[in-house]
Amino acid sequence: MTISFIGHGYVGLVTAAVFADLGNTVWVVGRTKEKIETLKKGIATFYEPGLSELVKRNVDAGRLLFTLNYHEAVVPSEVIFITVGTPPKDNGEADLKEIFNAAKEIGKNLVGYKVVAVKSTVPPGTNKKVAAILDETKPTGSSFAIASVPEFLRQGQAIGDTMHPQRVVIGTTSDRAQKLLVDLHKPINTKIVVCNVETAELIKYAANSMLSVKISFANAMAFLSEKVGADVEKVLDGVGLDHRIGRSFLYPGVGYGGSCFPKDVKALIAIGKEYGYDFTLLKATDAINDEARLYFIEKIRNHFHGDLQGKTIAVLGLSFKPDTDDMRFAPSITIIEALIKEKARVVAYDPAAIPNAKKVLPKDVIFATSPYEAVKDADAVAVVTEWNEFRQLDMVKLAKGLKERVLFDGRNIYDPQTLKDLGYTYYGVGRM
Ligand code: UDX
Repeated sequence: MTISFIGHGYVGLVTAAVFADLGNTVWVVGRTKEKIETLKKGIATFYEPGLSELVKRNVDAGRLLFTLNYHEAVVPSEVIFITVGTPPKDNGEADLKEIFNAAKEIGKNLVGYKVVAVKSTVPPGTNKKVAAILDETKPTGSSFAIASVPEFLRQGQAIGDTMHPQRVVIGTTSDRAQKLLVDLHKPINTKIVVCNVETAELIKYAANSMLSVKISFANAMAFLSEKVGADVEKVLDGVGLDHRIGRSFLYPGVGYGGSCFPKDVKALIAIGKEYGYDFTLLKATDAINDEARLYFIEKIRNHFHGDLQGKTIAVLGLSFKPDTDDMRFAPSITIIEALIKEKARVVAYDPAAIPNAKKVLPKDVIFATSPYEAVKDADAVAVVTEWNEFRQLDMVKLAKGLKERVLFDGRNIYDPQTLKDLGYTYYGVGRM
């Protein structure tokens, strides 16, 4: 099949590269000349494990093509996926400007019959608006069907998630579009949920919100565990062994970040409000997520008796989660801003995110090239992202660099007793 993707962010570029790898001819439309030129050379524009190789292989094979021109991509394509960003507005609603703009451009270039499928996360009702725009802008004689095919990939595991998803959701009321989309997904051997457009739109928000609820539940249990003297990790082991609950996404820490959970939880609250439902469960989920960061900052502050002035804090991990250089809504931003505001000196290290971190963190932050360099003469070390390389640190060597052996483990990746035996003052999340 020949298909197109409008937008080459995480969802667009990864899915495009995977479908090209499965043997389709895939066009990707962008609007930044430099980025398109880079992609045409087979170079990925962001870090994601395995993506560079996948893009290069398919560009070299002539199956993955990039353009600034909608006409070039839309005309030969049977299916056009919209994979542009839907960032949150100040009131929490998703900003759909880019979606509608893409719809307009696709509409103007429509010939024959096309399926236009939205993959970006959009509130219920958006696809219908896309259909209205296509209707207004399309040349006479052309026709289309709309579909909602939400994406569930995780950054860091994006290629695996796209090649082997746990399900594919196809929301459309057109039999022809359904058949085409089911055919396109055939090589991806998984369960397909077929439903109407609004259901598919809601499934995406429901999935991300449910996972966020789990994380906030874990964080709430962590707050309580500390108060009652319990070990939250054991509490959640005990809870998670019940198959009806499971252990995944029950890891407390400094809260969820990234481009999806914070935005989608807020968006679903806003959708509820629009339709007259007060989504108190998600309001609490969002509030607990903020508390998780604040609580971590408070622990650091309390250790230093409320005075961080002149203290050096080594921060290990900046990206919102491991295996990505993405800093969007990363907990590290809130934590570091608070430390700097309280006049601490922050030396930060991350295996991949430093270039992006430099764009968003306060200018006073000093960046190190290794964890050991970061902790040199520091009064404490704070682990904010659970990169594997931090799990394997030589804690004796680390201790030698530190001025004070104080460790704030924002992801509970270390064994408290082992660190205490090495002379560290250890602060985990929800455990002693
Ligand atoms: C998420 C969804 O998992 C994916 O299905 C969807 O398509 C996009 O949003 P992603 O944002 O890439 O993916 O990361 P994910 O691995 O889900 O983690 C999100 C955030 O939650 C990270 O900040 C992570 O550190 C945090 N998290 C995750 C926890 O704090 N505790 C957990 O138990 C799990």
